Amino acid sequence: MTNFVAYNIEDLRRIAKRKLPRGLFEYIDLGAEDYIALINNRQVYKKLKLKNRVLVDVSERSCSTKIFGTNLKMPFGISPTASAGITWFGGEILLAKAAQRMGVVCTAATSAVTPLDEIYEAAGGEHLWFQLYMWNDKELRSRFVERIRDVGYKTLVVTVDGPVGANREHNNRNGYSMPLRYSSRMAGDVLARPGWIFRVLLRQYLRRGAFKKENYPAELGKKLSDMSVKQGQSHTKPDSQCWDDIKRIQDIWPGNLLIKGLYSSEDAVLAAKHGLHGVILSNHGGRYVDNAPSPLQITAETRAAVGKDFMIAIDSGPRRGSDIIKAVACGADLVMSGRPTLYGCAAAGEDGAYRALEIFYEEMDRTMAQLGLNSISDIGPQIFWNPPHWAYPPH
Ligand SMILES: Cc1cc2nc3c(=O)[nH]c(=O)nc-3n(C[C@H](O)[C@H](O)[C@H](O)COP(=O)(O)O)c2cc1C
Repeated sequence: MTNFVAYNIEDLRRIAKRKLPRGLFEYIDLGAEDYIALINNRQVYKKLKLKNRVLVDVSERSCSTKIFGTNLKMPFGISPTASAGITWFGGEILLAKAAQRMGVVCTAATSAVTPLDEIYEAAGGEHLWFQLYMWNDKELRSRFVERIRDVGYKTLVVTVDGPVGANREHNNRNGYSMPLRYSSRMAGDVLARPGWIFRVLLRQYLRRGAFKKENYPAELGKKLSDMSVKQGQSHTKPDSQCWDDIKRIQDIWPGNLLIKGLYSSEDAVLAAKHGLHGVILSNHGGRYVDNAPSPLQITAETRAAVGKDFMIAIDSGPRRGSDIIKAVACGADLVMSGRPTLYGCAAAGEDGAYRALEIFYEEMDRTMAQLGLNSISDIGPQIFWNPPHWAYPPH
């Protein structure tokens, strides 16, 4: 048990900033280009004001919900994040364990620095999903999907928003890459955090060797994710993925299949037409398209377009339990986020990640009571005071 005090997600973020080498903290915390999407992701949540209803008996209230037949303590899930293991040794496993303890979803990432079978062995089950980056090599990709299936994962999230690398200038300045390379700037950042060297780096080297993307087959020369635009390059090589690639996955994947990284209702309608089980509306936490809207801004419109039964999850921006309620009121079934549990894990390993989930739960439960809401089905746009047009479905 690590001693730490965190009353909210921002407290965990501040601790993470103190504990992580700067280049690693900024890799997690910052976004693409001018941070327009990153900043907007928070602002839109803050803009929505909530009305209370008084003299409602809320003594029996519950935040629980069901997604794909799985009971969740609240409509929350951990978004996939590459390299969670740089925050604490075995970070991916710790996130999955924290989610299992809380009874929420955790999504393990293709670009994890812990192998997918070790994560599943430690915390597998219906709460643990897997995120797929579609490698260009179709044969390798199919074999990888079969491996994920054989390990036992039942829900697969295909991330589709990265046809070219993101322009994250801070990573270039800091010299951040995976595998980690120790430029003089990165080495200086690391030496300034001796605690991280003992907690994470040495344990990693002793037990696993250098940090690398453990799920990437050696044959795969070029990585899809975390390809940054380097100085003097107009772009990295685009891939050729399209809806046919989703069909190929459907042929070999027996479980739930979602796509992640869209933020237009048109694409959500296409996803439903292609027989997917749901979508995760996401602008990647402001890490790809800097002028993207917040997924929250297109949730109501998407719900109106796909109907009430199609599963909509959204991420990018929630930091308070009240944000979960706001997203559900706009039409989301599940609200996800990647950074808060990474901050928590950097602060105190599994206990820190669990604390992030506990904060979301306590805040959501309190806000439900304050507003006079007893269950998820009570949450709807009637809770908004003077909402902006995007929070209402179009007629
Ligand atoms: C450090 C980091 C790594 C990420 N890696 C991935 C990834 O490998 N695959 C993916 O689909 N999304 C990845 N994402 C995006 C998250 O899944 C999610 O969309 C984002 O964190 C949402 O923003 P929020 O955490 O601010 O709510 C990453 C995000 C962060 C912060």
